[in-house]
Amino acid sequence: MTDTPADAERTRVFSGMQPSGEAHLGNYLGALRRWVAMQEEYDCIWCIVDDHAITAGGDPVELPGHTFDLAVSFLAVGLDPERATIFVQSDVPEHTELAWLLNAVTPVGDLERMTQYKDKSQRFESVPAGVLNYPILQAADILLYKAGAVPVGEDQRQHLELTREIARRFNATYGETFPEPEALIGQAGRIVGLDGDAKMSKSLGNTVPLLAEPDAVWERVRTAVTDPQRVRLSDPGRPEHCNVFSLHRHFASEEELEDIATQCRAATRGCVDCKRILSDHIADAFAPYRERAAHYTAHPGEVRDILEAGAEKARTRAKETLREVRSRMGLDWRRALEG
Ligand code: TRP
Repeated sequence: MTDTPADAERTRVFSGMQPSGEAHLGNYLGALRRWVAMQEEYDCIWCIVDDHAITAGGDPVELPGHTFDLAVSFLAVGLDPERATIFVQSDVPEHTELAWLLNAVTPVGDLERMTQYKDKSQRFESVPAGVLNYPILQAADILLYKAGAVPVGEDQRQHLELTREIARRFNATYGETFPEPEALIGQAGRIVGLDGDAKMSKSLGNTVPLLAEPDAVWERVRTAVTDPQRVRLSDPGRPEHCNVFSLHRHFASEEELEDIATQCRAATRGCVDCKRILSDHIADAFAPYRERAAHYTAHPGEVRDILEAGAEKARTRAKETLREVRSRMGLDWRRALEG
């Protein structure tokens, strides 16, 4: 046995990721690599949130494969079922049940104020209620396990603040039940996609897939937008205005970074060569992940067993919380039979 403290003494951490298929560079730099590190210190629960993925429709034919592929990515990068609980949200229906119960303490006005809701709802002529209620399900994910901390990106800060508000309201109305979870906002900042403009995101097609072979990594990285003012090879570049340079920061050593910046400013190295270096770094750094992913892809039964064991573990904790919540809300009519 190791000398890590027992689960009960460690802060419980929960985070979730939507299943949009194989993870990409942005998922890795913004979330997964941090999640891996946190497993050393915290009692971690990592969830593939497929119930969230259906809030705005979604493709029922694609979803199972996307969920499986994200699970493979999780395991490939080192999320570890021996140390953390890894599972699929829809395997634990207590998430959706708690979300329903939390509807009772969530003002519609709070939901309508969410910036993500405002953005997303514009895409619909008739907005699905799931798009509005999305943050209630997210609050349920977290509160179901009474998590103390939630690692998320800056874009989720508002949802976390709402989660805390929901916890406060529930506690005030029905008695002290939930701790207020703390948002652990990542330091990586927004990972900008290869278009050099928007957040790296699968739906925008501006990503580098995490498990791509070196050739495929290059196919993607070569399309990256660099400093827009550097038009010809002989134009001096501005690393601080180049997204390829921001990505270099995550992979190159200090010296190498210095070198890259100097050569860019002096126009002694062109953007294509510069992207080659980045592409090689990415492909090298992720080689062990590709190897592990190949193993899991060849043994899908192992992935199934891991996810099922994770769901089992999660469910035991989830049931406990729900029993408490139901009883606090009076959803235990048998109490009427007691003396
Ligand atoms: N909404 C989060 C995102 O899009 C995903 C998510 C769902 C989540 N439930 C969560 C994150 C609970 C943290 C905790 O990134």
